[in-house]
Amino acid sequence: MMRLSLLVFVAFTLLSSSHADAEFNPIRQLGRRSVGSDDYKVNCQSFRVGVEANNLRDWITIPTYCKSYIKTYLQKNQYSLDVEAIAVEAADYAESLQKDIFLKDIWVFDIEETLLSNLGYLASSSVDFGTQQVYATPYYEWLTSNATVVPAILELYNAVVENGFEIVLLSEAPESIGDALVQALQNAGFSGWTKLILKGDADNGKSPEEYKSAKRTELVNLRYRIAGNVGDQWSDLSGENVGIRTFKVPNPVYNRIWD
Ligand SMILES: *[C@@H]1O[C@H](CO)[C@@H](O)[C@H](O)[C@H]1NC(C)=O
Ligand SMILES: [Mg+2]
Repeated sequence: MMRLSLLVFVAFTLLSSSHADAEFNPIRQLGRRSVGSDDYKVNCQSFRVGVEANNLRDWITIPTYCKSYIKTYLQKNQYSLDVEAIAVEAADYAESLQKDIFLKDIWVFDIEETLLSNLGYLASSSVDFGTQQVYATPYYEWLTSNATVVPAILELYNAVVENGFEIVLLSEAPESIGDALVQALQNAGFSGWTKLILKGDADNGKSPEEYKSAKRTELVNLRYRIAGNVGDQWSDLSGENVGIRTFKVPNPVYNRIWD
């Protein structure tokens, strides 16, 4: 009898404490499917950090209430400081890395929002700081006519070249805009890359990660060693043969460019 009442008491205490937790613990209220949906309003800085850390995946647009936060982040210097911090770290690494004796050491750079900036387009009403989806055709039209440089990444690029690495540019842009893209890269101050890999017809239907993994695997099969890999999307830096070190350039606006 004594035992039974103790058991009842313990069970009751457990039940009531877990009930109390549920009232103030948002983790207990899971079941939500989209970031920043009505059932759970993610804090905007937590959203941005979660995106950069690859904790938040498969999101399509930013939470609409985070638009002014993202706008301030991009336009009032914090974005530039974040890019600069990554570029400095990557350049230090490029300088200190012991080259391989047998393999050709290369750096892989993504192009869109890594070497070239489309911030003007992302701020336009078409994208509205990520509250609207980004579509490939207008995105690349803007990129090939109006893109600007990401200054800290140009400095990193030049530092990597000076340290004797070959450069491979790996982009999801279609081969059909190759000439215009080369022109945009040159206008932004980039030169001297070894390879420019763009998406051909044979690559259609692959996810961004599958496409980039396959291209990097081809490079590795050609006895290149990927010393560094720089991109603004996690699909640039995940999958197979990602390289010895990866560097994530911030991008809180879009998670992929849609066909
Ligand atoms: C490039 O910028 C100019 C000046 O802002 C603008 O008139 C033009 O439409 C832009 N190009 C594209 C493809 O949007
Ligand atoms: Mg990119």
